[in-house]
Parts: sequence; C-alpha cells; structure tokens
Amino acid sequence: MKTTISEVSKHVGEEVTIGAWLANKRSSGKIAFLQLRDGTGFMQGIVVKAEIGEEKFQEAKALTQESSLYVTGTIVEDTRSPLGFEMQVKDFELIHEAVDYPITPKEHGPEFLMDHRHLWLRSSRQHAVMKVRNEIIRATYEFFNENGYVKIDPPILTGSSAEGTTELFHTKYFDEDAYLSQSGQLYMEAAAMAFGRVFSFGPTFRAEKSKTRRHLIEFWMIEPEMAFMDHEDSLEVQEQYVSHVVQSVLNNCKIELDTLGRDVEKLEKVQAPFPRISYDEAIQLLKEKGFEDIEWGEDFGAPHETAIAESYDKPVFITNYPAEIKAFYMKPDPKRPDVVLCADLIAPEGYGEIIGGSQRIDDLELMKKRYEEHDLTGEAYKWYLQLREYGSVPHSGFGLGLERTVAWIAGVEHVRETIPFPRLLNRLYP
Ligand code: 4AD
Ligand code: MG
Repeated sequence: MKTTISEVSKHVGEEVTIGAWLANKRSSGKIAFLQLRDGTGFMQGIVVKAEIGEEKFQEAKALTQESSLYVTGTIVEDTRSPLGFEMQVKDFELIHEAVDYPITPKEHGPEFLMDHRHLWLRSSRQHAVMKVRNEIIRATYEFFNENGYVKIDPPILTGSSAEGTTELFHTKYFDEDAYLSQSGQLYMEAAAMAFGRVFSFGPTFRAEKSKTRRHLIEFWMIEPEMAFMDHEDSLEVQEQYVSHVVQSVLNNCKIELDTLGRDVEKLEKVQAPFPRISYDEAIQLLKEKGFEDIEWGEDFGAPHETAIAESYDKPVFITNYPAEIKAFYMKPDPKRPDVVLCADLIAPEGYGEIIGGSQRIDDLELMKKRYEEHDLTGEAYKWYLQLREYGSVPHSGFGLGLERTVAWIAGVEHVRETIPFPRLLNRLYP
C-alpha cells in the first residue's frame, strides 16, 4: 500500500510503500540508516543486512544523497525521533540516481545556499519554515472567514502609488505608465464600502534599496479593511488575529518548531490583549534606554524598534505617530491633529514591525487637502476621492507583512529564508 510520511501513524505494524528522496545516510557493516523525505515529512528507514540480504544491503550503502526511490517496509514506533515512527526497510527500488548533489551535509555559506535555493528548499530546516508559512496562511483564511470577512483581490498592476512615490516599480502598460502594487489598500477601501469587512492576500513590490534582514523587494501582505470600525476597533482585530495565528502554529506545527529549535515558551505568551504605547511614550522610553539624541518627529529604525520591544514579552503597538512621517491617508487625531490615528505592531525578540495600520481619512475636503500637500493630483486618484463623496464612513485597516511574521514565529534570523524564492536587492536568481 502506498502512503506518505505524514500518514505513517495510521499504519503502525503494517507494510507500506513510500515514494521518497534520500536526504542523508549513515551505515556500518551490518545496518544502514536512511534519512528519507517525501515532502510531507522526514523519517528514518533502517536497513538490516541480515534481513534484506547482502546484495540489497550493498545497494543501500551505495545510495547517493537526493536519489529518488520507492521504499517498502514495516512502520514501527520510535520515541526518539520528532516524528515518533520509523520504517524497517524490506525492499527499495531506485527511481533516479542523483550524482554529486551540491548541498552536502557540511556547512555552506548563505550566498551558496541562495544560489541553490531551488534545491535548498528540500532541507529539513527550509521545509519547516515553509510549513510554518503555510500554517500562518491557513490560519489567516480561517480567522477572517470565521469573522465575516470577504476575500477580495486587488490588482497588481496599478496606475498610482499607495505608499509614497519613491519606492515604485515602474513599467509600461501599453502606452500608459503603470506600477507594480506597493499595497492593495486603496482598492481594499473601495471593497470595504461594497462588502463591509474585507481582506486581501497577495504580493507587493517595493523598489527599496534596503539590504537588511527585514527587507524584501517582493513580499506578501495580508490587508484587512473594515467599514464602520475606528482605530481602537482595528487594534482589537489585529491582536485577536495575530494571537490566533501564533496559537495555530503552536498547535499544528509541533514537529516544525522542534526542527527549528524554536523557544515555544516565548510564543505561548502571545495572547491578546497586546500592550499599547503612544509614539510620545516611545520617545521617552528610548531616551531612558540610551537613545538620548532621538527627537520628536523622527521615524524609528530597527535598533529603536528592538529596544522598545525588549520591554515586553508580547508584540507591542506603538500608536499615534506624527502625521508628517506617516502616509497621506491616515486620519488625524481629533484631539491632537499633529498625530494620526495609526499603529505599528512591533514583534518581540527584535523582529521589528510586522503590521502597519490606521484609521483612514473619511472627510472629502481633508483628503483633497492631503492630496495637494503630497502632490498626488493624477487621474488615477479620482476614484479614491469618490469613496469620500458617496456615503463616506469611518473605516480602518492594516497590512501584515507575511515574511516578517514567519521570521518571528519560526525564529529565523533573515526574511530571505521565509519566502520560497526571495527577491532581494542583488538577487533575481533562481
Ligand atoms: O507599513 P506598510 O508600508 O503599510 C502599508 O503598506 C499599508 N498600506 C497597509 C495597510 O494599512 N493596508 O507595510 C505593512 C507591512 C509592514 O509592517 C511590514 O511587515 C511589511 O508590510 N513590509 C515589508 N516586509 C518585507 N519587506 C519589505 N520591504 C517590507 N515593507 C513592508
Ligand atoms: Mg510601516
């Protein structure tokens, strides 16, 4: 009977066949241990000379890394392995012999591994990171579907900028100018006026010349947008959503978190509500922590975010930033118009900003004024202003960067390992 490694717990004591690749191998004179992977997981296969015969045993000893094979044997419990099961191999059939697989069990540098990303994805660590990513996506759909949100897909080719004009990827759209989407937000605002609560999940592009462990040129963003919700309501959605995602990974990715050596106690603490501090308080805190030179009105960099996060064991919201350092569409605080009703959510353990969100300006005249101040007068913006012309309502939304969230939850240092084929400042290959 054919099965997969993920299903072996249902076949204890039975003889099964699994299509697999040889991830690694060690052997002695009488016994060979095959580290098998089939895409669904990793499992050890034990080949005993006395049982399989001399000829087949020599064949097993000669198997090369990443050769593909059908392996047949009996599934038995193995309490020492993370999977909890192994196979006593009765027979195997080579499908394809891999010669000189470039990624050997020894250490390789990051550039070498990135050049071989198409193969590196097979390693147990990369496999675990992608499974965590997949669980975050699954839990995202679950959360928003259960809470009455409609999935809406904004366009990727756009005629205007959503987050400032300096980081746009320009292209031609026949005779017109077009840009790759930096954020679906403006379209999601239109969708919220049609469907109430919506969310998107798609790729976004930033032509940012940043070469840090938190920056990708192409990354995936989850962007909910909610009609009739103010800033405070939105923060509650955010903390509920992030808690749901973290708890889902803890429940459904135990083997992967173990493979990654993730300290799960830190993740277990991530339960709503999350602490909130204002930008003003954050400035004060930073001064106390030795950033004496920081002045009100400056944006925070990675070291600032890390220093603020150190004071908490949950993600922390920094709210009400100065209007001048935030996007044109954010609603000013009615009590204090020099700051806006926004928040960045900063992940613990130095992983930085994972969410940017705000209440949006719903007043037509103020939005027009912002447009002029930001020099955003093109045709493409006409439709966005019309949302404030016909039945404008208070509304809020946010964007969660998937890769930074994966990096934090999986405990991975650099975002390049959190997306299957990263696009970085100097990398478009493979
Ligand atoms: O803070 P940002 O720029 O917010 C927006 O784009 C809003 N329009 C979202 C909204 O309100 N609908 O980006 C949101 C998140 C950041 O918090 C970060 O997690 C991620 O997107 N992000 C990046 N991730 C990887 N590489 C980059 N270059 C990123 N830029 C932003
Ligand atoms: Mg931001």
